[in-house]
Amino acid sequence: MPVDYSRRSSDYDAIRADDATDRAFWLRGLVEVGRIRPGERVLDLGAGTGRFAFLLHASNPVVALDSSREMLSIAHAKAPFACVRADGHRLPLRADAIDVTVIVMVLQHLADYELTLREVARVSHRVVIATSDLSTRTLGIVEEAFPSLLDIDRIRFPRIEAIVGALERAGFGDIQTKKRPYVRTLTVTQQLDRVRRKYISTFDLLPPGEYDRGVRFLERELPRRFGDRFEVKSSFTFLSGTR
Ligand SMILES: C[S@@+](CC[C@H](N)C(=O)[O-])C[C@H]1O[C@@H](n2cnc3c(N)ncnc32)[C@H](O)[C@@H]1O
Repeated sequence: MPVDYSRRSSDYDAIRADDATDRAFWLRGLVEVGRIRPGERVLDLGAGTGRFAFLLHASNPVVALDSSREMLSIAHAKAPFACVRADGHRLPLRADAIDVTVIVMVLQHLADYELTLREVARVSHRVVIATSDLSTRTLGIVEEAFPSLLDIDRIRFPRIEAIVGALERAGFGDIQTKKRPYVRTLTVTQQLDRVRRKYISTFDLLPPGEYDRGVRFLERELPRRFGDRFEVKSSFTFLSGTR
């Protein structure tokens, strides 16, 4: 079942993004692994609220593409970069229009990510993808609270080796894979707020009752175990390819 981002657009940035982490972790990972140079034409595929389109727009011409009108309207209000509403399986761009395509936490939402990567290879010389490696992902107390969550995500998220294979079949070479550690410190109140506002899209896909039970468990256990400081420790995998 696809996740509907239209309902999530209004508080998407508030619960997922903070400027420091977006710059120091996500943007830096994209620029370093994707070797993005100032002036290169960038496509942000599945740009959502334009977090990365906005940051890249300072140095690069950017096209933010997403299928959700509501997410794109937030992106559009951030800065005057191009916003295109389209399906990532059929990119409305001519061949070789783009130097580098960035794809952050999107592949798990696509019905056919191989088709999207073939489209990316048609329009773009390079690609950089950021995703979660479910073969090693752990969520600590969040996993305890929502026992089905990782099993659901293991089905949703393509495996890293499968993405590498799809990139190769799409015509990309020189494929690099880098797992980068992610640490973010929040207050327990902030973390509870994120959970109540469903900061993980998979919360909508849990079996009946599990989300509510998990929220009650975290309301009790987060303050008891962590006091006021909650550290999110994880990692994300960045892949790049050139054709
Ligand atoms: C988890 S969000 C990531 C947004 C942004 N890349 C970020 O990291 O903040 C996934 C985004 O993919 C978009 N999306 C899902 N399916 C899509 C498709 N077929 N074509 C284009 N965008 C799609 C959703 O609308 C949503 O904005």
